[in-house]
Amino acid sequence: MSLRLKDSVRKKLYMIIVIAILAFIGLFSIKSIVTMIKQKTNIEYKLEHHGYSTKEIKILKRNYNKKELTKLLDKEADKNIPLLIEEKYYIAKNLDKYLDYLKANPNTPVSKVISYINTRANEKWYTDPKEADLSKGKLLLVNKFNKLNEDYTPELVNVSNWYAYGENKLTQEAYEAFIQMFNGAKDSGTKIVATSCYRSYENQKRIYDKDVYKYGEEIADESVAKPGFSEHQTGLAIDLLEPGYNLNNFHESTAYSWLLDNAHKYGFILRYPSDKEDITGYSYESWHFRYVGVEVATKIHNENITYDEYYAYYLNK
Ligand code: DAL
Ligand code: ZN
Repeated sequence: MSLRLKDSVRKKLYMIIVIAILAFIGLFSIKSIVTMIKQKTNIEYKLEHHGYSTKEIKILKRNYNKKELTKLLDKEADKNIPLLIEEKYYIAKNLDKYLDYLKANPNTPVSKVISYINTRANEKWYTDPKEADLSKGKLLLVNKFNKLNEDYTPELVNVSNWYAYGENKLTQEAYEAFIQMFNGAKDSGTKIVATSCYRSYENQKRIYDKDVYKYGEEIADESVAKPGFSEHQTGLAIDLLEPGYNLNNFHESTAYSWLLDNAHKYGFILRYPSDKEDITGYSYESWHFRYVGVEVATKIHNENITYDEYYAYYLNK
């Protein structure tokens, strides 16, 4: 090959290399620009620049759709939002209330905030009470925010004196479950006796008025429900004792220990536990058990929650 021909091939080769390099740089720049534009419109990018960490964004994305995520950009980044969302009993419709409560009470654990708001325990007791939802059947909720009418009376059966002191009534289903529980306790070598089951509105009023007269309204409200607000009016609640014990020392009895481990297997729950007074609004009552059925009672027992919390999260979300 002549020297001139070799030169022209070399030149062409150089040109091809230069063109290839330029094309590569061009493509690379276009790709970077496209990525940059994409990033600027990307919700993750925006949330990050709004102040949320990668971990928080992951939580937010798992729980919110694009519209909800975009709405978060309208207000200042709030680190409590992902914290709240990750809590087991978080209810989306309550978010603003959780945030307001945390702002006013920043030292309250997030799980408590959720319990308070879900059950309304942050509000003054008896404020704006609702009619108890009777369509829930045996799962109806009666507490300081959910009441029964003066004339509400469930269908009742008499409780035999084999199982109870004095005259008592329960709903048929609660009674049958109670007999099973009584026999279960007996087989384990302990005895439970019912002392107070169904109470009419008038009966509850007498008990409440007597306590108000003796101790004043504030003290009475800690342990006795106002008429219309007592679970005893549902025919699903039983006050239990072991013979030889009274309300003050029942918690020391073997019957009580047995109930703590076994009541749920028969569909009953301890309704006013010692460490949940801020949620139930009542002082600890070792004797007061409520029938809700085996499935629900077992869930409540295993999750260590009150019926108020159960109802808010599982039945009224
Ligand atoms: N002692 C319970 C709260 C009641 O009066 O129903
Ligand atoms: Zn009771």
